[in-house]
Amino acid sequence: MDLKELLWEDREKGIFRIRRTAITSQEIFELEREKIFNKCWLYAFHSSEVEKPGDYITRKVAEKPLLIVRGSDSEVRVFYNTCTHRGAAICREKSGNASTFNCFYHGWCFRHDGSLVSVPDPDGYASTHDRQKLNLKRVPHVDNYRGLYFVNFSENPPNLDSYLSKVKEPLDLVFDQVEGDFKIIPGSNEYYIRANWKLLPENSLDVYHYNILHRSFVDYQVKLGIDRQKFSRLHNSLASDLGNGHAVKEDESGFGRPIAHWSPLFGEEAKDEIAQIKQELVKKYGRERAWKMTELVRNTMIFPNLIILDNVAINIRQCWPVAPNKMRVLMWHLVPKDEEGKALKRRLNSFLTFFGVGGFGSPDDAEALESSQIGCETLPDDWLDMSRGMHRTPFGRDELPARTFWRQWYYLMTRE
Ligand code: FES
Ligand SMILES: [Fe+2]
Repeated sequence: MDLKELLWEDREKGIFRIRRTAITSQEIFELEREKIFNKCWLYAFHSSEVEKPGDYITRKVAEKPLLIVRGSDSEVRVFYNTCTHRGAAICREKSGNASTFNCFYHGWCFRHDGSLVSVPDPDGYASTHDRQKLNLKRVPHVDNYRGLYFVNFSENPPNLDSYLSKVKEPLDLVFDQVEGDFKIIPGSNEYYIRANWKLLPENSLDVYHYNILHRSFVDYQVKLGIDRQKFSRLHNSLASDLGNGHAVKEDESGFGRPIAHWSPLFGEEAKDEIAQIKQELVKKYGRERAWKMTELVRNTMIFPNLIILDNVAINIRQCWPVAPNKMRVLMWHLVPKDEEGKALKRRLNSFLTFFGVGGFGSPDDAEALESSQIGCETLPDDWLDMSRGMHRTPFGRDELPARTFWRQWYYLMTRE
């Protein structure tokens, strides 16, 4: 296959197309592992998931099983979750707190820092059998930005700071919303969509479909008493290419937001509290920055597969390729660490109403992506069109975020 034939961009004619094979091919699926997932910084976890010494989580990142532990020295270490004896998983729980990790196969025991502390029948080994060399293996590059931890499996990656670069600004607009820290609500939404993983990042910043595909949500909001006009404000949206394949889409859609907009969903008693939160942000950050934080809802895509949704609540969404026609989706709920009671309930409900697996939004999107996948498999040599806005300075409803994603994908896939 000639990879160069997968993208067709003609700026003069205003055309941007992707060959459907990019969505369906097994060969491309395998190449992506090497050229994208073994090269890019990949989101792995949030610091609050391993808050105290001994806290650990296990998680697959790019299909590699990892063990993430906060040591007694408070350092967070990321190991491959595989025993140095015969390869079994060191830890088989999803999360917990432990002083040591005992391999379930033959009982080798490791400390938080990965050192091998004991083996059964130590006399069974010669003195030249060096235990120091049998410590758990660490992932080569781990770094974080404001508590979002990323890993990189390549030999010589750029540093995380320069990889994220301009995408740090929309992240700051999220993390500055509260005085203290954020935390992840334990557990995640995890589900599979029978579609290629690349369809989700582009869908997540696609305003084009919103009022059409999610019509039942818009109608529901109108029924609750929200002015239908608010949804047409989506047309005032802005989208920006932030470099390295990252993009952000912002608009004044005026949905219920726990820091700025009361919605009938939240109940009468929340009105004053929400107004107060907004006031405080204006006081702290000034009118302009507070306007961005509170009035704009924002979906941020961090290439290749992380999406931060800062709208009806704050969600971290990630998709992993499982097969050319199957992705695994994970969603975590990010909340202010000290928020509790009714305020927290408001956020959780707001999240579930749209993004929950049985919510108004996520099932619509899953159905559309699965339908696209079938279409791509039917005519794999045809094109997908993403030309909207090519001939003008694009609006947020144009297909600029999708083009941003695909240009970076194409660059990484075709470079030597
Ligand atoms: S594989 Fe872990 S102790 Fe044998
Ligand atoms: Fe959607």
